Amino acid sequence: MIHQREDIEGIDSAILMHPSVWEASGHVSGFTDPLVECKTCHNRFREDQIEDIKICPEKNCDGKLTESKQFNLMFQTHMGPVQDKGSQIYLRPETAQGIFVNFENVMTSTRKKIPFGIGQIGKSFRNEITPGNFIFRTREFEQMEMEFFCQPDSADEWFNYWIEFSHNWFEFIGIKKSNLRKREHTADEKPHYAKAALDIEYNFPWGWGELETINNRSDHDLKSHSEKSGKDLSFFDEESKERYIPYVIEPAMGADRTVLAVICDAYDEEDLGDEKRSLLRFKPIVSPIQVAVLPLSKNEKLAEVSNDIYKKLQKVYRCQFDNTQSIGKRYRRQDEIGTPICLTIDFDTVEKDQCVTLRHRDTMDQIRIKIEDIEKEIEKLFTSF
Ligand code: GAP
Repeated sequence: MIHQREDIEGIDSAILMHPSVWEASGHVSGFTDPLVECKTCHNRFREDQIEDIKICPEKNCDGKLTESKQFNLMFQTHMGPVQDKGSQIYLRPETAQGIFVNFENVMTSTRKKIPFGIGQIGKSFRNEITPGNFIFRTREFEQMEMEFFCQPDSADEWFNYWIEFSHNWFEFIGIKKSNLRKREHTADEKPHYAKAALDIEYNFPWGWGELETINNRSDHDLKSHSEKSGKDLSFFDEESKERYIPYVIEPAMGADRTVLAVICDAYDEEDLGDEKRSLLRFKPIVSPIQVAVLPLSKNEKLAEVSNDIYKKLQKVYRCQFDNTQSIGKRYRRQDEIGTPICLTIDFDTVEKDQCVTLRHRDTMDQIRIKIEDIEKEIEKLFTSF
């Protein structure tokens, strides 16, 4: 979104923000989950995540649940040395508000005109009642959000555009289409700021779960910040001579959940007859290690050429150098972490042919290629994953 598009700028805004920001955004009054507590075991649950809202869902406990109360998910801390009500501030529960309060700064300093977007990646914090499912729901997590400011009449069109864009992006990073679905929010689950909302969900091993929400936030945020701060955040369109508060379409994605979905989707086990291999079939674009450089042994004769290859490739790819254990064990290890290509340097490389062995993770095919052709071959093979 940010590096390859002219109409989106990137920022890195503050994590700690003044309560006025969260009052204006509606989070102080409306960013809540319904909390119930078991009168017997005292465990707490989100009322909207349990089937029977009267009886404790904990195994071997039939305790009665309390009436639900609204629980605010924002973490609080204090600014400065005095810890009183006046010094109370919040850790951001979404990165979005840091974008809204910087909207005018970014627009004027980058000379952008509507429609345009501002995106950022960063930590958000929510005092979740029930964190769990590995890194699916945590109290500190990484969000990737983009606020796209547009003319109000064009908002529905941009809403659909960013849904398709996001769906295609999940496929681009390697998630199977059959494991993705779109789900529109029902009226009672829409967040307090959204006029329309749709989730892109992934079929996790425990069931469908949200990866990203695309919200039509209307003019809710800019209008509220404008009212609270007294700063006019409207936009004047020179061409149409129209003045309006822009509408916002927001693709809001969880980075941790996306990583988890990519891992679930890529995990595979293969029966090789005498043994089983586990592998991660990552696309090279998301593989933590893209090329492993593996000298056959620690023998000094192989050191120089192996190092030269590694240093050269490291400038272009995420590489790992490993000269420990048997070559078979090293291949398995690279399979397990999803490395698409391994290069092995042996004695023939230095003594005979100036060639290395290139091994393909998925087919396990090995070919002998010239050192000078390594990058060309990698580029060619990357498209086959
Ligand atoms: N600004 C809009 C917003 O924050 P959201 O649906 O509450 O929308 C966006 O959050 C994304 O952030 C979610 O789709 C999810 O991927 C991720 N996310 C939200 N809460 C999370 C949590 N507790 N742990 C991990 N990821 C979370």
